Amino acid sequence: MAYDIVVYDSSRKQAVLELQKLHWGGDIDRNRLYFDWKYERNPWLTPPRIRLAYDRDKLIGMLGAYGSCWELGNLRHPPRCASLGDAVVDPKYRRQGIFQSLARALTADLRRDSFDYVISTSANHVTFRALSQLAHQASTRGPLLQARGWSRPWLWVANMLAKGTFGPKAGAVIERAPRIEEMTKLVARLTSDDRYRHCRDPEFYRWRFRNPSCRYRFLYICRPQLRGYLVVQEWDGGPQPKRMHNLVDWAAESDGVLVELLGTARRMISTRRFRVWHTGDDSRCAAALAANGFRLTTGEPRGPAVLISYLHDSNPFRRCFIDGRDPRDIANWDLRQIDSDFY
Ligand SMILES: CC(C)(COP(=O)(O)OP(=O)(O)OC[C@H]1O[C@@H](n2cnc3c(N)ncnc32)[C@H](O)[C@@H]1OP(=O)(O)O)[C@@H](O)C(=O)NCCC(=O)NCCS
Repeated sequence: MAYDIVVYDSSRKQAVLELQKLHWGGDIDRNRLYFDWKYERNPWLTPPRIRLAYDRDKLIGMLGAYGSCWELGNLRHPPRCASLGDAVVDPKYRRQGIFQSLARALTADLRRDSFDYVISTSANHVTFRALSQLAHQASTRGPLLQARGWSRPWLWVANMLAKGTFGPKAGAVIERAPRIEEMTKLVARLTSDDRYRHCRDPEFYRWRFRNPSCRYRFLYICRPQLRGYLVVQEWDGGPQPKRMHNLVDWAAESDGVLVELLGTARRMISTRRFRVWHTGDDSRCAAALAANGFRLTTGEPRGPAVLISYLHDSNPFRRCFIDGRDPRDIANWDLRQIDSDFY
């Protein structure tokens, strides 16, 4: 079937919000908020770079690119990066190569705009497979861990508050707002290896935690200055699972602080399941997760899936390395769920 692949402009926004009911959910106002946040207020890429598929004048598919900022070892110049997201094709038109045509066209746009890498971290099993088939992709996947929350968390909180071992007196607090300056300073102080990772600077955090499709809670341990933090996410409406929390970001200055943060989150947040990505060769973190009951999931869970494409070389991964590391090995990535637009 013939279809056209065209460049997005703002006259097509309403049609995009309608089409995204298939993927983001049926509430058009909510979809507008999400679109504005992601594509019009992104710190690294505006105006929106989106490709659309049309069957005559009917919108049948979309793929977006939003700006991201990656530290890829000690490259001499910071690379310009974008990530793909929000793929959707009208069900009547699926399995005809439309998604792959959108991905090729959008990647070519980014190459023309002098981007260096496309790094995507939100692929599900279908888009991961589809993108892996395209030329110049390197890809890798990692595990997802899961733990159960406590069944009566508020009893535990009340108990801890009564004993004075939780709350401002003990230095462990839960808040609704990110302490951006303190968090980014802690991350800068603790980062000691050159695994690939998304930058964690104030600009990123200011934008990232405004994602209107999610609610975030920030757990801090301060004695008296910040020693560690953990960000717990849940979806705020939409089609995503309820009663599930994701531990989307954290930093801790010691094993003890990390174990305490994980244990506190599990006990005080009422939920059936907690999920967390675990990548890299960070055995300290693995031990803290295991100590808090996190176990590998089986089946089709959405673990970290990285697709990376270098835009300036016809055969970019022939040596398979960026600054001496192989991007096809998940151990070379330090990823958190906050690095994916799904959370
Ligand atoms: C994901 C989606 C955009 C794919 O669009 P599409 O135009 O059908 O994809 P394509 O035809 O380009 O598929 C290319 C390849 O992807 C893989 N693929 C596509 N759909 C698949 C499916 N349902 N199951 C398994 N593999 C699939 C196949 O390898 C396919 O190649 P093949 O047809 O030669 O075997 C579409 O299924 C969709 O809108 N899904 C709902 C929204 C969604 O899940 N978005 C992704 C969010 S991460």
